[in-house]
Amino acid sequence: MIWIELGPARLVPRCATHSTVAVVKTIIEPFRIKVVEPLRMTSVETRQRLIREADYNPFRLRAEHVLIDLLTDSGTGAMSSEQWAGVMRGDESYAGARSFFRFEAAVRDLFGHRHVVPTHQGRASERLLCHAVVRPGHVVPGNGHFDTTRANLEASGATALDLPIPEARDPGAPHPFKGNVDVDALEQCLRRHGPARVPFVLVTITSNVVGGQPVSLENLRAVRAVCDHHGVPLWLDAARFAENAWFVKMREPGWADRTPREIARATFALCHGALMSMKKDAFGNIGGLLSLDDDAWAERIRTALILTEGFPTYGGLAGRDLEALAVGLDEVLEEDYLRYRIASTAYVGRHLKDAGVPVLEPFGGHAVYVDARRFCDHLPDERLPGWSLCVALYEHAGIRACEIGNVMFGRPDPDTGSWTWPALDLVRLAFPRRVYTQAHMDYVIEALVELHARRHAIPGLRFVHRPETLPHFTARFAPAHG
Ligand code: F0G
Repeated sequence: MIWIELGPARLVPRCATHSTVAVVKTIIEPFRIKVVEPLRMTSVETRQRLIREADYNPFRLRAEHVLIDLLTDSGTGAMSSEQWAGVMRGDESYAGARSFFRFEAAVRDLFGHRHVVPTHQGRASERLLCHAVVRPGHVVPGNGHFDTTRANLEASGATALDLPIPEARDPGAPHPFKGNVDVDALEQCLRRHGPARVPFVLVTITSNVVGGQPVSLENLRAVRAVCDHHGVPLWLDAARFAENAWFVKMREPGWADRTPREIARATFALCHGALMSMKKDAFGNIGGLLSLDDDAWAERIRTALILTEGFPTYGGLAGRDLEALAVGLDEVLEEDYLRYRIASTAYVGRHLKDAGVPVLEPFGGHAVYVDARRFCDHLPDERLPGWSLCVALYEHAGIRACEIGNVMFGRPDPDTGSWTWPALDLVRLAFPRRVYTQAHMDYVIEALVELHARRHAIPGLRFVHRPETLPHFTARFAPAHG
């Protein structure tokens, strides 16, 4: 199904409705609002002062000074009334709490593995898995490791190897499953290193690093066959598994009539284990998990879990969190929700594109990415186009976005002082789940289109202080002036 529009603010499916009965086709937010959180309006002048006081780093702003916060879709979602009811039901017993068994049942129903281990968030799952099975000299291939995953693998002495299909590196390539693994490259990698050096293959659904792009089940089956051939387990990073399932339903032949839950189950049936940040597709404000069949690995993971996270039936979470996550895992697979979720992301992307704003395509599940080098084509790399655009967007409209580009990945050569810049300098607009309405998104679109019209007035920035590791969180900047 392809989404088309009726009028300026309407998204409708181009479905075959030749019936004589008129059908309302507008896709709406499939929820109503019971609790509201006021947003604070600020003036351009105030925001110019606030961002100057924050040394031109949006991470250093107070959230209450942000009107629309698109920094991340992680842990920022709105919980449903059922999830809040779960919070009240939470059993806070240290060991064997009822809430754990509810959580375990919800996870097992979907993932299908024997062992279910809760953790406080995705990167804790990554660390536990690495601690259990990754050793110096190992290689862990995948479609594109998220940065905390990469950092955890590297901290264990392993090489994190990205083997995406070639289309993933082309920002405009119209491939329906740009998150796919390059199966031939994986085969070569496993042939070269073998199971002795590859503890597992890790495929991320959807692939965040290439823009929330999905992985097809056909590709996963091919990956599994290569893994089986070489005796290497296949793992999934399932942070956005429901969004991936929806893309499969919409785009992959043979799956249109299956429910998202059936598709998710078919996905997890292909892997030996999965880790997940439940701050995304489980509607959690906190939470993570590991799900696996291997008894020996599970024992090692649980031993480390007790040291650093907590007892195996709470894993760093409260009983109330486990309840809310169990409900969230169900709700995220509702068709009305997923239809609205993916359509609303595409809505923002297409409006920006139609107005000439350079965006990456196809649009992903959780975010739209602006190509900042093309947006700010008057700024050379050392004037940090993506970061400058983020600052300008905040000053102009109070919107906070995240640069994924020159500041995050640019590296100075310690000897010559010259810089290496990443292939793409992007600004990510990540959409919190069930938080903002279409009117908020129309505001975002309008703000970016206005800014695009006078983009050449956006001043460049320069570093005042750049920490060596993860510079984007704490770096300080100043206007570059020429
Ligand atoms: N894996 C993926 C694919 C992610 O996107 C993230 C987090 C993690 C693992 C780590 O999970 O935050 O719960 O520890 N992504 C967030 C983002 C931070 O903004 O994309 P976590």
